[in-house]
Amino acid sequence: MPPLTTSAPGVRPKAFRFRCIACGDLSDQARQDFRCAHCGDLLEITYPHWKESGGAGQDLKSTWSQRRLSQSAIDLSGVWRFRDVLPGLENDGQAITLREGNTPLYELPQCARITGVPRLFAKHQGLNPTGSFKDAGMTVAATFARLAGFRWVACASTGNTSASMAAYAARGGMRSLVLVPEGKISWSKLSQALDYGAATCQLRTDFDGCLRLLQELVLRAPVYQLNSINPFRLEGQKTLAFELLEQMDWQPPDHIIVPGGNLGNSSAIGKALVEMRDLGLISRLPKLSVIQAEGANALVRTLREASGKKLVSVQAETRATAIRIGNPASWKKAVHVLEATDGACEQVTEVEIAQAKAEIGAEGIGCEPASAVTLAGLKKLVQQGFVKPAESVVLVLTGNLLKDPDFTINFHRGELFKGTPDEDASAALNSLRRPPVVLDATLDAVIRTLEQAEK
Ligand code: F0G
Repeated sequence: MPPLTTSAPGVRPKAFRFRCIACGDLSDQARQDFRCAHCGDLLEITYPHWKESGGAGQDLKSTWSQRRLSQSAIDLSGVWRFRDVLPGLENDGQAITLREGNTPLYELPQCARITGVPRLFAKHQGLNPTGSFKDAGMTVAATFARLAGFRWVACASTGNTSASMAAYAARGGMRSLVLVPEGKISWSKLSQALDYGAATCQLRTDFDGCLRLLQELVLRAPVYQLNSINPFRLEGQKTLAFELLEQMDWQPPDHIIVPGGNLGNSSAIGKALVEMRDLGLISRLPKLSVIQAEGANALVRTLREASGKKLVSVQAETRATAIRIGNPASWKKAVHVLEATDGACEQVTEVEIAQAKAEIGAEGIGCEPASAVTLAGLKKLVQQGFVKPAESVVLVLTGNLLKDPDFTINFHRGELFKGTPDEDASAALNSLRRPPVVLDATLDAVIRTLEQAEK
């Protein structure tokens, strides 16, 4: 298969280049594993012509707000509306879009009271077309896969990437191959991949094992890899931050907090923040902090035990299966963005995740367990004094509540931690539980339940 080039038919010429994050090599071609041909590290996308366009910020802001009045498919996408900061297409009709992005920014008044941070918001990426933030990256990467002439796309996944990839491949007339760890992803996510027509392999390994295999596969077979190692994914995902800042009238919050798994999303958001500053769209950087589950804390350990210099991988285990990752591919990019924005990195326990998820649910918003690490992490950052009560904070909720109904139902039934070492600690969460009750179909029984619930 030919290498991927920046001058494929349909790609706007000379609009962007690939740059290696370690040796800085600039290139117009990428290998199929999206690794530097010289040193093997990850690539990112850069825009050489931006240097000459200094101070374009005001023009961009008005272009983007004008596009909100348009009814064309590309402008209705909350990702492609920001196409001036993405790799360029020659023709707008080439974008594979499901009207992704355009996600709401909610206030969280109850969680604000709980954390003591009155200006607390959630950017809910779980309200994307397939229910997770992956859609923002997938619309861009799937579009470039098709322009590069691929018939097959593939990914390793803890579930959300595979659901998203399968949808965008189907919309774009491509086939998709999914590699997921057997028994370790939620049925909801698996069912999405099946419904969208993916060839789905449940491999007897973990996510890290699936990703290793995929990296070998793309060098042997003509399939285009759509994991977040693919820098086009991160370009799409970075629009989350552009949209967020637009929603905040370009006044940066003091903190943005994201969950960390394979660390593509934190890298994408950090890249966006630095680009927004360089383009003159914002005057200061929010601090970007990454929160991991204690049982999947490779970045936390990498920073604490190796000062961010080399990856400390772990054998990952957490009920937040979306972030059950021990060997995160984009760790170096994440270390860079934490340094660039002065952000923090924390870990939270399984019980803390369950509590935070129930608290976000009680706001009428809901999210999947991996997203709830942000609220649990915020509590820690407040305790440590890293986040001050007067500061504004945005939590990035990455996945929809409906992505993992088993977790929610088991929590409310009191079964999530039963028979585990966390059982005692989880008793403190009983007041948050709303177990369903089975009753005879009588008025009396329902009224009694109503009275009980009122207490
Ligand atoms: N939240 C959710 C809901 C996720 O699905 C993921 C990753 C993350 C957070 C972490 O984001 O990897 O960019 O640091 N899910 C991937 C998947 C790995 O295959 O769906 P990250």
